[in-house]
Amino acid sequence: MTQACGVDFGTSNSTVGWHRAGQPALLALENSNTTLPSVVFFNAEDDKISYGRAALANYLAGYEGRMMRSMKSLLGTSLMDGQTEVLGRALPFRALLGQFISELKRRAEASAGRSFERAVLGRPVHFIDDNPQADQLAENTLREIALDAGFREVAFQFEPIAAAFEYESHINREELVLIADIGGGTSDFSLVRLGPDRAGRPDRRDDILGNAGVHLGGTDFDKYLSLSSVMPLLGLGSRLKNNGEMPSSHYFNLATWHTINLAYIPRAERELQDLQRDALEPEKLAVLLKLIRDRAGHWLALRVEEGKILLSDTATAELDLPRMSPSQKLVLERERFNSAIGPLTESVESTVRGLLRDADLGSQSVDTVFFTGGSSGVPLLRERIAAVVPNARRVEGDLFGSIGAGLALDAARRFG
Ligand SMILES: Nc1ncnc2c1ncn2[C@@H]1O[C@H](COP(=O)(O)OP(=O)(O)OP(=O)(O)O)[C@@H](O)[C@H]1O
Ligand SMILES: [Mg+2]
Repeated sequence: MTQACGVDFGTSNSTVGWHRAGQPALLALENSNTTLPSVVFFNAEDDKISYGRAALANYLAGYEGRMMRSMKSLLGTSLMDGQTEVLGRALPFRALLGQFISELKRRAEASAGRSFERAVLGRPVHFIDDNPQADQLAENTLREIALDAGFREVAFQFEPIAAAFEYESHINREELVLIADIGGGTSDFSLVRLGPDRAGRPDRRDDILGNAGVHLGGTDFDKYLSLSSVMPLLGLGSRLKNNGEMPSSHYFNLATWHTINLAYIPRAERELQDLQRDALEPEKLAVLLKLIRDRAGHWLALRVEEGKILLSDTATAELDLPRMSPSQKLVLERERFNSAIGPLTESVESTVRGLLRDADLGSQSVDTVFFTGGSSGVPLLRERIAAVVPNARRVEGDLFGSIGAGLALDAARRFG
């Protein structure tokens, strides 16, 4: 039986796969769920840490504590060496991330009924854009964390290549495939020749025609949606009595998943109190201060994310925002969302075009575009990517499971 597992540590969701012939690869990680949301909640009242859906529930239940989501986005940044503080106690981000990876391993082993000493970890094509040093630092940090968590040997694989291996296990003819993995933090692409005869080859380098990626994903869509429709309700874009503009940094922190906790530091609150005195619309700042004092930043981000997901299916979505004020409602519109994420969509599209160009392949030659990752559910994005390869058949994988299952296959091939 295969000795190694595949670990997809995602910005939003994580999975662990273990390859066994004739059985589904993904292991149950939280009750019967094969995904563990990449969330840690440190409960300061009882000093306990919870993970995944339970962490979200504990935070939303209002326990005093610290919530972390989108921890993967810290890798390779200077924030990684920082910490968050709760009740005067410092919680280093690196330790929180380590706790999460250890928990992922522990749960996978409990589910499999055995231990895993070796693992193939997924990684985006770029953790950090246009900065090879920071990108290498991100991979090194993740490797150290995985080794500290108890893996003896760790290898890395590009997430879209893992998805390609998974897709390949279901096809019975040769295809040139564009893999599009649009996740919470990054959009990753691979151009690969896949087929049943190629699957067993020990060296696939000739089949991989190129990889490309950009550090943009669902958490950025949440941020842009928040900045365009929710943050103005809290004073973003409003004016000060001296006719100056309200500084935007507090709003950016609050709208960005991995910096929400920065909005809670005492200095930020004092600055906002000063701004409230100078504001032409102080009532908006009052609501902002209330949210910050209530530590409701993640609640707000979750509501925005829910709205975004609804917009994948409907033209408008109504959000209740009772923690802002009991009767506060907000109607989100898909058209406005599409405009807000327009520049992001263009950047993703040009990443795909660049990949085809670098591989010296005409857009007509791609047989299949394979979509995976939760954010491939955003209709505008999917259309724009599909339009780059007009002849390609569209295939949708398991949006939250293809990578983990593909990493399991890769782990079996590499480690036996
Ligand atoms: N139906 C949907 N429409 C749009 N976005 C969606 C939908 N369902 C989930 N999402 C978004 O997908 C993202 C999570 O996708 P996924 O689990 O693939 O990411 P991840 O693997 O954790 O991230 P990454 O691979 O970038 O590290 C979240 O931003 C979530 O809001
Ligand atoms: Mg992913």
